[in-house]
Amino acid sequence: MIAPYKVAIVGAGIGGEHSDGYSALPNLFRIKTICDLNADRARLVAERSGAKVEIDFDKVLNDPKIDIIDICLPPMLHYQAVEKALRSGKHVICEKPLTTSIANADRLIKVALETGKRLFPIFQYRYGLATSHMRALIDAGLTGKPLIATLETHWSRDSVYYSVDWRGTWAGEQGGAILGHAIHIHDLLTFIFGPIQSVFADVATRVNAIEVEDCAALSMRMRSGALVTSSTTLGAAKDTSRLKFCFEGLTVESENLPYKPADGQWTFTARAPYDQSKVDACVNSITFAHPSFSGFFEAVAKALQGDDSSAVRLEDAKQSLELITAIYASARSSMRVTLPISTTHPLYDGWLP
Ligand SMILES: NC(=O)c1ccc[n+]([C@@H]2O[C@H](COP(=O)([O-])OP(=O)(O)OC[C@H]3O[C@@H](n4cnc5c(N)ncnc54)[C@H](O)[C@@H]3O)[C@@H](O)[C@H]2O)c1
Repeated sequence: MIAPYKVAIVGAGIGGEHSDGYSALPNLFRIKTICDLNADRARLVAERSGAKVEIDFDKVLNDPKIDIIDICLPPMLHYQAVEKALRSGKHVICEKPLTTSIANADRLIKVALETGKRLFPIFQYRYGLATSHMRALIDAGLTGKPLIATLETHWSRDSVYYSVDWRGTWAGEQGGAILGHAIHIHDLLTFIFGPIQSVFADVATRVNAIEVEDCAALSMRMRSGALVTSSTTLGAAKDTSRLKFCFEGLTVESENLPYKPADGQWTFTARAPYDQSKVDACVNSITFAHPSFSGFFEAVAKALQGDDSSAVRLEDAKQSLELITAIYASARSSMRVTLPISTTHPLYDGWLP
């Protein structure tokens, strides 16, 4: 299999943004098919790239010309769709959340091994110029140890957003703001600060008349010993995402772009005896990185060519599901919960109430 890889996007909601991400990388990807039960919706996306429209997922899986199936279906459909696509001999990209239980993530990890096909979970916030600067500073030893961070996912979602039948329900969305929205900033946290050791969580439904939570306050301890607070609401006046990291030698502040934080101008301020001129030189040495979905897809292409250094790993998706499991376990018990979550944990098979 050689680039450009031939892709079918299944689900034409966020799939439209995926389409634009692939189109920014014409040497690496060709979009062959947009599949959606709603042919009109698929057509709107397909006409941007000249792809064909298909309503039958099985036909897409049986098309020998397709190399990669990109799953952009509602969360409750991910597990079955990914398993079927892997077993049909395709590489698979899957929107977040990869699955809605750690048990199903473990099953998919096994299926990927059995079939020898790659499965790439999506976390596109990792990609962009600001996060490339951040990683380079960490790799160059210019940060010192992580001390503390604050994260905000303050977005607005109203009844129109929740009029889509699967959203806001345990059966469809399978979780609330910590699963559907703050999952991105928490993945970015682990990308920058490393693994999470424990979480104390409080969640509430205060904005919309939905079954799942739309506000969350978390206190986390990282495996490094660093402490983190994360605040999430879907009742903010406007959408902002903000991150602030204090390392012993560097303080890092994002702007407040909600969906592409790495596209904003981050500030990197050295704390003596760490040297600002070295920080500036490191930052100035990187002038371009593909942002968001195109950065993610570029990393997928590199991984398919044997360089796994920048792709999101299946373990990263599993870790994000462990955090979500731990958050629900903590919120329901009012107790701090330690990660990783074992196979004997009562919520290992799923957190649905
Ligand atoms: N990474 C991100 O920033 C981001 C943003 C939004 C949504 N998402 C995730 O993407 C996924 C989809 O979300 P969305 O907002 O695009 O949902 P959506 O409801 O807008 O779109 C899903 C589409 O899937 C289609 N569909 C359902 N069953 C199908 C089937 N069997 N075969 C073919 N098509 C089928 C529906 O007709 C619908 O058009 C969710 O998991 C969501 O969490 C991720």
